[in-house]
Amino acid sequence: METKVNLVDNFMDNEKNYKQAVDILTSGGVVAFPTETVYGLGAIATDELAVQKIFEAKGRPSDNPLIVHIGKKEEVFNFATDISLDAEKLMDAFWPGPLTLVFHKISGVIAPNVTPGVETVGIRMPDHPVALGLLQALGEPLAAPSANRSGKPSPTEADHVYKDLKGLIPLILDGGQTGVGVESTVLDMTTTPPTILRPGGMTQEMIESIIGPVNSETKTPGKQAPRSPGMKYLHYAPEAPLYIIDNNENNISKAIATLRAEGKKIALIGPEELEVLDADWYFSVGPARNNEAMASKLYGALRKCDLTEADIILAVETDLTGVGAAVMNRLMKAAEGKRYMS
Ligand code: TXA
Ligand code: MG
Repeated sequence: METKVNLVDNFMDNEKNYKQAVDILTSGGVVAFPTETVYGLGAIATDELAVQKIFEAKGRPSDNPLIVHIGKKEEVFNFATDISLDAEKLMDAFWPGPLTLVFHKISGVIAPNVTPGVETVGIRMPDHPVALGLLQALGEPLAAPSANRSGKPSPTEADHVYKDLKGLIPLILDGGQTGVGVESTVLDMTTTPPTILRPGGMTQEMIESIIGPVNSETKTPGKQAPRSPGMKYLHYAPEAPLYIIDNNENNISKAIATLRAEGKKIALIGPEELEVLDADWYFSVGPARNNEAMASKLYGALRKCDLTEADIILAVETDLTGVGAAVMNRLMKAAEGKRYMS
């Protein structure tokens, strides 16, 4: 299959691009498109055979539910039930935006393979002109996971999608680099209080400013089976082993010297202040303590490591404030929990 990449930007008449995408989707195909978080791979959420193609293209385990993307807030009532007042407040405050809300599903509407094994459905309205343009032109909900091969970092550029899914999907809408850079926050509205199943682009602080305290499973890991099924799989993994290291220039210097003495080539992912260190490859994630910058650059940096001959990757940790919680959650997964100890 040929994979087309169509540029969609503010300076063009995008009617033709959306029409092409809509034609593919309505005839049961899949299309990759940008959102404000990461690129998604969409299929019409009520079309079981189309949704099946998402799992095939990604190599995704079939027990992992997909997020349903909508182009208008009101559409949530077509697919979900028991929508609380708090949920309505969150939708008013943060939709469109990087917040996925998990509700009880109305049975028989969304295709069963979108929500395998669960009685709930995760829904969000993305905050990206191309995602919204496509959803509104289509007039149907899109089931869409991140548009990477399963296990790889989520794509933040059309080129990442192309590298992962070339020959497997017919069309990528290229809307440039995504802004937030980590996926949406998944908030389960079926518990009291609601529970953050996956930290993401919408911070816990922002959510709590609207509805008060929420549970955060990431603060009590290992206590129960993962309720966001996707969280149990290997994720975001670059090819070389990745270790998290604390933000201490001396320690990082020592680590580099030790590893080099062992004959290893080292890639360092860290704040721009550390560029002076003599790693074999260095990928900046912006100024230190700027967690937004780090979120937007992290997946690109992880992917760049795969273009090097690094034997080991050291990634400098950040604090857990704001989107730092999501950044460290993804880094911990990419590292499979490993920390570099000198
Ligand atoms: O920002 C995002 O959320 C991106 C863009 C494309 O919208 N999408 C994304 O989808 O990250 P995906 O499939 O890569 O991750 C969805 C996560 C998985 O961890 C999945 O288990 C969880 O959301 N999830 C989806 N529906 C759920 C449900 N009904 N109950 C619990 N977890 C759910
Ligand atoms: Mg994903």
